[in-house]
Amino acid sequence: PAGFVNAKIDDALLGDFCREVAQQGKAPPPPIKAFGGKRKVLVDFSSPNIAKEMHVGHLRSTIIGDTICRVLEYCGHDVHRINHVGDWGTQFGMLISHMEEAYPDFTSNPPNITDLTVFYKNAKKRFDDDEAFKKKSRETVVALQAGDPRCREIWALLCDISRKEFARVYKRLGVTLEEVGESHYNSMIPNAISLLEKAGLVTDSDGASTVFLEGHSFPLIVKKSDGGFGYDSTDIAAIHHRLKTLGVDWVVYVTDLGQAEHFHMCFEAAEKAGWTSAEGRLCHVGFGVVQGEDGKRFKTRSGETVRLVDLLDESVTRMEKSLKDRVAEGKCALSPDEVKSAAEKIGYGAVKYADLHQHPATNYKFSYDKMLSTSGNTAVYLLFAHARLASIVRKASAKGVDAKKAASTKMDLCAHPKERALAFELTQFSGVVASVAEEFLPVRVCDYLYKVSCKFTEFVTECKVLDDARMAERVVLCEATGVVMRACFDLLGIEYLMQI
Ligand code: ARG
Repeated sequence: PAGFVNAKIDDALLGDFCREVAQQGKAPPPPIKAFGGKRKVLVDFSSPNIAKEMHVGHLRSTIIGDTICRVLEYCGHDVHRINHVGDWGTQFGMLISHMEEAYPDFTSNPPNITDLTVFYKNAKKRFDDDEAFKKKSRETVVALQAGDPRCREIWALLCDISRKEFARVYKRLGVTLEEVGESHYNSMIPNAISLLEKAGLVTDSDGASTVFLEGHSFPLIVKKSDGGFGYDSTDIAAIHHRLKTLGVDWVVYVTDLGQAEHFHMCFEAAEKAGWTSAEGRLCHVGFGVVQGEDGKRFKTRSGETVRLVDLLDESVTRMEKSLKDRVAEGKCALSPDEVKSAAEKIGYGAVKYADLHQHPATNYKFSYDKMLSTSGNTAVYLLFAHARLASIVRKASAKGVDAKKAASTKMDLCAHPKERALAFELTQFSGVVASVAEEFLPVRVCDYLYKVSCKFTEFVTECKVLDDARMAERVVLCEATGVVMRACFDLLGIEYLMQI
């Protein structure tokens, strides 16, 4: 039979915690010793493919990966944000061959990214339909890999066009990444394979070099029968480089769930080859597909894949309209310029939050109406709640009660049950952050932020703040809540507003 241990935390402890948070303006991270000290962590995320447009899957990886990085950074780890872009592989044969045909003057008149997706489709079509083109493409890959200068030039141009487009999306989302694409590992592949061979892991299957691992119905193909290297080869070389050359302790990969088995096989191979250490961690964070409101794969009305930039634009446009309506109704005092910038912050925040606020493995239905709703567990609701809170703190200050100053005197912050419940919730912050740094589940930050906001709402509903006898105490609680909420927004990469 299970017993219970009841513990009651001293009110003074809760109060002192909140006063300190209000005074410092910072919520404490978990102690780094909780992780056995500072770790070198590499997060492999976003990772779109050159000459293709980023799709919603890459959006998920970018948003989830960025939050994981932010949490690890907050904890004090040494974090490397790596964009493992698909800049190598057999598709470049057809792309380069097609470029020579379709854009003979490519140096002076290169295609832009929108053309580039069409370009990709056309190249693929030619590749599938035309035997001679197929043959030429295959030869071109060999030439590229052998370092042929003209092939290299076209390849670099393709990478450059895509890179600029990716950078625009990252800038909008406020995400930083270091590009270390697949091509970077190409020269390291033979050595990695020979290490696997020495460990006795490689077998020959019909001329291909493969690594069979127990419990998997297919092997890793480290060298194809034609001698070429593919996705598996690159990831094997990359994991070896990261663990053994860069000396990374933890590697976290963020991709769709469809690739889970691939990564688990790479992890197992690395372990069997002796590249991992006892405290090392190799993790795959897999996410489900983004669906339209009809439950099918998310597509535009005409059945095309949704362009990421359009999706972000749409969210901002809708938010701008809803803010303008509020201004017209007298519910919002923002100037036209402020409306524009607020719509961007809230619009992007809504897209991010919609993705982050559930377990990554679940598929989610993309719905502008839901994510932009002012009620329920949405970024919009939370950002409004925060702005309201900030306005209480401002009003109190105008009445001569400065939250930070008030926090410097010892006071009882837990006299009312709703005050205490809120104060207790605030003390949970660093535990939540620690759990995200352990399990890589950003949803925990969202759940926590929502809970804090609900506790805050209950508190202000029952406890009058302005002009109350307990105004000083309550303003300190408001300020501490604001600090914790802002810390959560920062971890989620959501820009908050002090006024809406
Ligand atoms: N480029 C891949 C894709 O679009 C994701 C790469 C993930 N990282 C890796 N090391 N394989 O699906």
